[in-house]
Amino acid sequence: MSLFEISEDHLETGLRGYPCGYCTTSYVDPSLGLFYAGIPVSSLTKRSPEEVISLLYFGKDEKRVDFEQKLREKAFLSKQSVEAIRRLPVGGHPMKLLAGALLLLSHTEGVGDYREDALNVIAKMPHIVATVINHHRGQKEIAVDPNLGYMEKFVSMLGLKAELYDLFRLFNILHYDHGGGNLSAFVGKAVASGLEDLYGSLASAMCALEGPRHGKANQDSLRFVEKIASELGSSATEDLVEAYLRNMIAQGELIFGFGHAVLRVEDPRATVFYEYADLHYRNDPLVTIARHLRKVGPKVLGENPKIANPYPNVDAISGTLLVAAGFSYPEYFTVLFGLARCIGIAIQIVYERVEARGGKGTPIVRPKYLYKAR
Ligand code: MLT
Repeated sequence: MSLFEISEDHLETGLRGYPCGYCTTSYVDPSLGLFYAGIPVSSLTKRSPEEVISLLYFGKDEKRVDFEQKLREKAFLSKQSVEAIRRLPVGGHPMKLLAGALLLLSHTEGVGDYREDALNVIAKMPHIVATVINHHRGQKEIAVDPNLGYMEKFVSMLGLKAELYDLFRLFNILHYDHGGGNLSAFVGKAVASGLEDLYGSLASAMCALEGPRHGKANQDSLRFVEKIASELGSSATEDLVEAYLRNMIAQGELIFGFGHAVLRVEDPRATVFYEYADLHYRNDPLVTIARHLRKVGPKVLGENPKIANPYPNVDAISGTLLVAAGFSYPEYFTVLFGLARCIGIAIQIVYERVEARGGKGTPIVRPKYLYKAR
């Protein structure tokens, strides 16, 4: 059966839309958005992180007390691992630190078995990322109650106020996975296809996520909203924001937080965040600007026939919402994205390495490039 026809027009398009294999965790429908194991993410927003991780891990919506217990038992890094991370030099973007931390955890935590390493790393992601952030901002390790839930522990390990828990839980759930072809998942699986271990593969995936076209877009989108607020004043009207956008486009400036490679509607993850913002932070000045952008962005961008999707994506509001809630540390937004995304990528790697093709695993990734003389 033919799935896709390749013509010259498909070259140098970032493999856009090429079917590469199977993804057993999630898929992205252009007009309905993201589904985890067949369930739309918008109907999972009240669940605990443990329940949603279990859904992705087993592909079934069943309560797994034993699995949740395992996540709790394996939640903490060894002292040696924490010390190793805290010896890494700081100064650059914390995503580099996260990638570096994952790489060295191969030595201190890895057992060289994809399944076991995946379960371990999934359980430990909150501690890994909390250690990275605390080290980056010059804070000591904070001991926490081991009986706390997955993201409750994370909030405690950072010494943040407990009210932030619910938003962190939601942010975490909405970012676990986004189909098989997003750059970080693709890179993680490609590196693992050479039989690199899970930690090294995840470290590569985090380098992919760091780029401003991928995970760092949430930090850049916040800057964009802040710039509009500072130039127009936080009480700017919808009309003023529209005129501002038109002017930016005329000057050839970049507009952040709109469009998506697959989606052709407003990203349902963004819709969940807008609703959350309306409910809890309606009068926040940055939320107001983000809401105006949500309204006028599709209208203004939609006038350009070359733009296939003029609608907001998840980054249009996620960072603004974190700041409105009191987490005013934009350089950690992408690390929070990474905390979540490593879950989906780890599970996808396990499928490709030990389950696909009757357990043989998929072969090494090796696409063809056509020679072109310069
Ligand atoms: C993601 O969540 O990974 C982004 O939306 C990017 C993508 O799906 O390509």
